[in-house]
Amino acid sequence: MAGFLSFASEFSAATVDTRARALYYRVPHEIRQPVCAAAPWMILSNVPAPVLCAAPCDLADQPGVKGFMFFNTLKEEKTVERTFAIIKPDAFAAGHAGRILTCIYEAGFTVVGMKKIWLSEVQAGGFYHVHRDRPFFADLTAFMSSGPCVALVLEAPGAIARWRERMGATDPGTAAAGTLRREFGTSIGCNALHGSDAPDTAAFEIGYFFSGMELL
Ligand code: CMP
Repeated sequence: MAGFLSFASEFSAATVDTRARALYYRVPHEIRQPVCAAAPWMILSNVPAPVLCAAPCDLADQPGVKGFMFFNTLKEEKTVERTFAIIKPDAFAAGHAGRILTCIYEAGFTVVGMKKIWLSEVQAGGFYHVHRDRPFFADLTAFMSSGPCVALVLEAPGAIARWRERMGATDPGTAAAGTLRREFGTSIGCNALHGSDAPDTAAFEIGYFFSGMELL
């Protein structure tokens, strides 16, 4: 174990890659053997960081070479924050709310606020007031008031960016594979989900739907 530790810390310093949500370290496949020969995936303790996870991967900078990706969960220094989300009328009517909530929990969010609502067109217009001069505004408010939806307040480290990443691009047609809008949305208007785009909009949007006493 001691040999692994010195190798890992030495290697990680040179190969830290910030493109991943958590920082990760890539090490050659051979390093797996002294650590855990049997498990394809493992959680280690008593290592430089108290929690370290590893998963098999290809080394991006050494094509064809197998390695392990080490996730140091404690290196994620993002502030715990809240974001606002809506499961829109299209996704709710299609019966996707349950699956979307499961994805939300699996992505590590804490649901601190949740309610089923049916907006009036005026309420939808107030919520989306920043878009009032856009050509799609009337369609947007008509759609958002066309049926019930679910309003959510989600909490996590870096919740705003994390939720937008999980949703995918506004237009489901261009959203990346595996994102929720890609899976549940059908058009840029009927895109299944909403998420705040910045801390100030999150504060406005949370306050538009929830009182402080409803956030638990
Ligand atoms: P949302 O993230 O909720 O924020 C504003 C919404 O406007 C957006 O999702 C889309 O569903 C909707 N919308 C409709 N048409 C357009 C468009 N042409 N460009 C951007 N957003 C659009």
